[in-house]
Amino acid sequence: MDIRHRPAYHFCPPRNWLNDPNGMIHWKGTYHLFYQYAPFSAVNGVKYWGHAASRDLAHWEHRPIALSPTPGGPDRDGIWSGCTVDWDGLPIAFYTGVFPEQQCIAVGDDTLNTWIKYSANPVIGAPPEGLAVTGFRDPCVWREQDAWYLVLGSGIEGGNGMILLYRSEDLLHWEYLHPLYVGESVETGRIFECPNFFAVDGRHVLITSPIPLSRAIYFSGDYREHRFTPGRWGEVDAGGALYAPQYMIDAQGRRLLIGWLWEERPAEAYGAAGWSGAMSLPRVLSLDSEGRLCTAVAPEVNALREGVLCQASATLDDAILPLPAAACDQSEIHARFRVEGAQQVGVEVLRSPDGAEVTRVAYDVATGRLLCDRTHASLNPETHRDVRSDTLTLGDDGLLDLRIYVDRSIVETFANERVALTSRVYPERGDSTGVAVFANGGKASLVELTVWRMGVCCP
Ligand code: FRU
Repeated sequence: MDIRHRPAYHFCPPRNWLNDPNGMIHWKGTYHLFYQYAPFSAVNGVKYWGHAASRDLAHWEHRPIALSPTPGGPDRDGIWSGCTVDWDGLPIAFYTGVFPEQQCIAVGDDTLNTWIKYSANPVIGAPPEGLAVTGFRDPCVWREQDAWYLVLGSGIEGGNGMILLYRSEDLLHWEYLHPLYVGESVETGRIFECPNFFAVDGRHVLITSPIPLSRAIYFSGDYREHRFTPGRWGEVDAGGALYAPQYMIDAQGRRLLIGWLWEERPAEAYGAAGWSGAMSLPRVLSLDSEGRLCTAVAPEVNALREGVLCQASATLDDAILPLPAAACDQSEIHARFRVEGAQQVGVEVLRSPDGAEVTRVAYDVATGRLLCDRTHASLNPETHRDVRSDTLTLGDDGLLDLRIYVDRSIVETFANERVALTSRVYPERGDSTGVAVFANGGKASLVELTVWRMGVCCP
């Protein structure tokens, strides 16, 4: 295995291919993360459910593969994405067996290591009569007062993405009700993959990863009479690397989200490396008064800090200030700026001494956008080298609060506990570890900065 760009404190598969998080559940004090896993190839393949567990949401231990295809069964060609629910003290996993796409269940033991598939699988064998659908997968299940509800990711043949809603009294027999929601514009995609539907802060949120958008989006709005009417939509993470995220509600009632960070280099490169894909850091979700989804890193991640590399404060006037003590490719950078006339302020990371390789995380005042500029992130022309951005409105105090998690090939940024931007970068040079702060076109104060060296998540 080539570990040069392999993240240290973001969860990665032991080897080979990982995609979507699955079955996330906080079970008897332990967080469980299952994931789409191709155990025999780093460039995709037949899917199993890999498994990891964590007591603190920061450190993870690898567990044995949880679910494998059964020859001749409805999941003979793969165990695709799904969820886990607590059924009166029994963990029940829902997943899509392929091919064709059918919904199956399995019951776990208390450790969630061993699963027994239901002998009468599938529990939902075919799309509703008379509906021509382009997808029928990725069950998300929840309990309401009167019954269990389940949604599936789907799309209308020749039309937009669609979420199908089912109801059950016993988790085994499912009645199709109607679409929970049908996408109103081609802009939000053709096939909705990996739906998550949940209440937060008095509203409802639908998160889905539509084909062909290649990114995760959310809708927020009202849920009445089992129909969802969104008031707005936006991106879950505009950095380009996060897809198919899954939420869970933990014992504290928090809505936590983890997403798949895919590779943004050619398949030959990750095939040769022998591993591919990582998970985002766990995030805490909330809604603001206008229904915007806000994302903050879970505070438990602080447990991965190993020591302070650098602390600083400064006044910057159209200047860049290198911070040699902060040089590290496995770090957390917390920087608070006050914008005082500058056009752009931010932090350069994974920077070579001559600046030939550098990733810039910046706030652009004129456009009100947070951006991750990786046009010079790598000398390798085959890696993604674009600028990703999202809207960020600063408060009246003009404060920009950046938490940037640098982990070899991941730059995961959280701004003002609202916006998340995660990108993959693959610097070629061994000395591309530098950090610098800057203010362009005017003044900004670096009110405070602390950089920590980070440890590893799977010791
Ligand atoms: C999303 C997805 C899901 C599917 C799984 C298969 O990345 O395509 O819709 O269940 O991956 O691995």
